Amino acid sequence: MSTVSVQIAHPAPATGAGLRGAIAVPGDKSISHRALILGALCVGESTIHGLLEGQDVLATAQALRAYGAHVTRGEDAIWRVNGLGVGGLMAPGDVLDLGNSGTGVRLLLGLAASHGLTSVFTGDASLRQRPMQRVITPLQQMGARFEAAAGGRLPITVIGTDRAMPIEYRLPVASAQIKSAVLLAGLNAPGITTVVEPRPSRDHTEHLLRHFGAEVEVSTDADGARRIALTGQPELRPQIVQVPGDPSSAAFPIAAALLVPGSDITIKDVGLNPLRAALLDTLRDMGAEITEQNRRRHQGEAIADLRVRAGPLRGIEVPPERAPAMIDEYPVLAALAAFADGPTVMRGIGELRVKESDRITAMANGLGALGVTVEELEDGLIVQGGNGAAPVRDDVCVDTEMDHRIAMSFLVYGLGAQGPVRVAGCEMIETSFPGFAALMNGLGGRIEVAS
Ligand code: S3P
Repeated sequence: MSTVSVQIAHPAPATGAGLRGAIAVPGDKSISHRALILGALCVGESTIHGLLEGQDVLATAQALRAYGAHVTRGEDAIWRVNGLGVGGLMAPGDVLDLGNSGTGVRLLLGLAASHGLTSVFTGDASLRQRPMQRVITPLQQMGARFEAAAGGRLPITVIGTDRAMPIEYRLPVASAQIKSAVLLAGLNAPGITTVVEPRPSRDHTEHLLRHFGAEVEVSTDADGARRIALTGQPELRPQIVQVPGDPSSAAFPIAAALLVPGSDITIKDVGLNPLRAALLDTLRDMGAEITEQNRRRHQGEAIADLRVRAGPLRGIEVPPERAPAMIDEYPVLAALAAFADGPTVMRGIGELRVKESDRITAMANGLGALGVTVEELEDGLIVQGGNGAAPVRDDVCVDTEMDHRIAMSFLVYGLGAQGPVRVAGCEMIETSFPGFAALMNGLGGRIEVAS
């Protein structure tokens, strides 16, 4: 049996020197998956700069190789994808194992659905528990056939069709993964595939589809829903993609800098797509001092350098309608909330229960074990803040449910807490943020592997 990696985050020394310096976080995970996939649908070479080299994205690269795309990493760290054209994928010779990656598997299910070939997908124990019926339903309407494990779970066999039908699909939950699965399937369907989103989700797929030459029209329905219409069977053209830093990864050093007294850090080249960046609004509502410098755009995506200084935070009620635009940031927000003045109320986040772990329960259990007063709601969490001082218990090793974001959230907590915090399952951090501890330590933090 493999051993679980435990790391210890130590509080900053009382000198008040804080975290200092300028860093860049790894590339955006959502954009990295999509850039590889769209590159695989072009004849000719696309180059990707700043690709996230985390396990999730590497699993997608490996799956695309199995479909016949030529995907390489140069010594210059530039990734090159020589693709096969829309509709040109070849049958994979083996089962596709997407590891921990929900984005990878759901997007590739969409891609596979409109190719006349059979693919078998699986993943790790966490991914095999996650709901896939949400993508199976629309993809069946487009003509693909599926055999799934009980409850619409992995392993899944998809028997795709090269005569996919374009559909109009209204999303039952705000999910960029469902939207993207349908749009990627729609790439190889004649006519217009439409996705209607009552609540907008991250729009990286739309930006990148346009960047690669597809026709994507976005409009607003009378009821305020967002309507995305993709013209099928375009000839995608190879492109250069510059991947911005992942705002969901940046959230961890941002939170640590807010907590550790005396901190003043800059995080360069952070993606600030408005459908991703609502954590910043929430933190500013809590009183955080975060400034943006050097704002610019790449491939339709907003990017800036962020300067973050330590300071007191007050608890707030997070507007539930913000949830889709900061969905991956609630775990670290819950950790920060334990240091705020007063309660922080987070509602409308039921989707957190079907992420890499049940993140509502994982945060409630971990914070509770450390001594924080926390109330778990069916679709939310209320955390009582300790007004600058969050408790620890020496005998506790936080169980992160093998979830990367839960692990990083508690390591950040430990950097600001009253004493060291032990966190189990830290190997999962490699899925999204390789080098996390080293980067934090380079700023002056102290995260070490437990012996
Ligand atoms: C993602 C969408 C979100 C997010 C995930 C990445 C994407 O999931 O939680 O980390 O890249 O499309 P949902 O689409 O399930 O909300």
